[in-house]
Amino acid sequence: MSTHDDQGLFLHHITVRFGGLLALDDVSLRVPPGRVVGIIGPNGAGKTTLFNVICGFVAPQSGAITLDGRPLRPRPHRLHRHGIARTLQGVGQFGGLTVLENVQVGQRRKAKAEEAYAALERCGVAEYAGAYPASLPYAKRKRVELARALVARPRILMLDEPAGGLDADEIGWLADLIRDAGTTVLLVEHHMDLVMSVCDEILVLDFGKPIALGTPGEIRTNPKVAEAYLGAAA
Ligand SMILES: Nc1ncnc2c1ncn2[C@@H]1O[C@H](COP(=O)(O)OP(=O)(O)OP(=O)(O)O)[C@@H](O)[C@H]1O
Ligand SMILES: [Mg+2]
Repeated sequence: MSTHDDQGLFLHHITVRFGGLLALDDVSLRVPPGRVVGIIGPNGAGKTTLFNVICGFVAPQSGAITLDGRPLRPRPHRLHRHGIARTLQGVGQFGGLTVLENVQVGQRRKAKAEEAYAALERCGVAEYAGAYPASLPYAKRKRVELARALVARPRILMLDEPAGGLDADEIGWLADLIRDAGTTVLLVEHHMDLVMSVCDEILVLDFGKPIALGTPGEIRTNPKVAEAYLGAAA
C-alpha cells in the first residue's frame, strides 16, 4: 500500500564498496515529488556512484531503493519506465546523428520528431536541429543533452554536473530551466552558486559518508561542510 509519506524516491542505507574502497557508506535520502535535491561533496565523495546506483549501473552491497513506496530494482535500459531520465557528466552524443535524431533516440521509444523539436525549443537550441553535434559549441551541446533527457517528460530528472564548462550566462539559463522544470530534480554539481540558488534541500557526502542534509542556508553555515571542503583543498 502506498501512502502520502512514501511518495518520491527513497534511498535506504545504501552502501557500495569497490574492493577495499567504501564509495558509499550507509547513505539514506528522500527525494519528494517536485523537489530539487542537490548532492554535493569534494571530488571522489561518491556523488556519481550514488547516481549510478539509482540508474542500476552499480549494484549496492547493501541497502534498498523505493519509488512511491515500491521497491525499485533499477536497470539502465528500463529507467524510462519509472519516469527517470539522466544526463551524463560531460556530453555524450552520437556523432553520426543530427541533433534532432540524437534527441529522438534519447529514450527507448523513439520520440516523434515534433516532440524532439519541442524539447530542443525548450532548451533554446532548435535552430541546430539539422546540424551534427560536433559542429556545435560546447554549451549548446550541453543544452542538447538536457533536451535529450527532457523529451521523455521524466518525473525525475537526474543531472550530473550540468554546469561543468559553462559560463555565467549559460549557468543562469540552466538555473531557470531547473527551477521551471516542473519535475523532481536530483542535481550533482560543484558550482555552489547554482546549487544554492535552485535546491530545496542538499545532501553533502564526504568520502562516501553523508555528513549533512539541509536547506541551502543550513548547508552554507554548517561547519562540518566547510571542513570537508577545506580538507579537500589542502
Ligand atoms: N567502477 C569503479 N571501480 C572502482 N572505484 C570506483 C568506481 N567508480 C568510482 N570509484 C571510486 O569511488 C569513489 C567515488 O567516486 P565518484 O565518481 O562517485 O565520486 P564523485 O563524488 O562523483 O567525484 P567527482 O566530483 O570527481 O565527479 C572514488 O574514490 C572513485 O575513484
Ligand atoms: Mg562525479
